[in-house]
Amino acid sequence: MMMTSPASLTPHPSPEIPVIAIDGPSASGKGTVAQLVAQALNFHYLDSGALYRLLALAAGRHGVSFDEEEGLVRLAEGLVIRFEGNEVWLDGAQVGDAIRTEECGNGASRIATYPRVRAALLDLQRAFHKSPGLVADGRDMGSVVFPGAMLKIFLTASAEVRADRRYKQLKEKGMHANIRQILHDIRQRDERDSARSVAPLQKCADASLLDTSSMTIVEAVDEVLTRFKQVRVRIGASSSNSFVG
Ligand code: DC
Repeated sequence: MMMTSPASLTPHPSPEIPVIAIDGPSASGKGTVAQLVAQALNFHYLDSGALYRLLALAAGRHGVSFDEEEGLVRLAEGLVIRFEGNEVWLDGAQVGDAIRTEECGNGASRIATYPRVRAALLDLQRAFHKSPGLVADGRDMGSVVFPGAMLKIFLTASAEVRADRRYKQLKEKGMHANIRQILHDIRQRDERDSARSVAPLQKCADASLLDTSSMTIVEAVDEVLTRFKQVRVRIGASSSNSFVG
């Protein structure tokens, strides 16, 4: 991977390829929703959190401390990763389960506070922007990575609902889970992701809020698809108006 310069903070140069940016806190269900929306539209899917998790995992494996920004940047520049369906490879080995642990998520949240680490992952994320379209989920998809996204959603749910969902998810996988610890971790992660100075977790002004606390996944997916259709119709109408005008 090449070093990312500040110039790459400009909007992606393919505005005609639609992007749906879905940002929100951890365990909000945005990943599941984003994936299903991508499937319904036959769009590509970017799980940007997976990149931060992969880097955290690689750091652990290469003995790079989470405090060493320079070492993390070098590691990010040399990441050898591959995504295929739900699976992901690091240095040729399958790591789909390894990156999903709470430990890896917390590590990802820590290394994501470094501006140069974030910059080093920019090009990698933008490489997912391909025809016929992209659904990208994360924390800064609408604000930094794809500021020209056609639709920006801030998808959230209360911390308690998110903790409960994460708890059930872990139990289903047969993994050990403690609901109080999960709630504590979720609050701590929210705090760190929201308080950092670079690309903090926040709803940007042009994003629309989707609170899924009392929604099913199917309802949330339908809602995103409906909003996307509305935006497309609006854009179609305004471009045909400008033709007439
Ligand atoms: O979405 P996730 O829980 O897999 O993300 C793990 C961590 O990575 C999250 O706590 C913060 C960081 N992250 C980020 O800073 N920016 C993104 N676009 C995605 C994730």
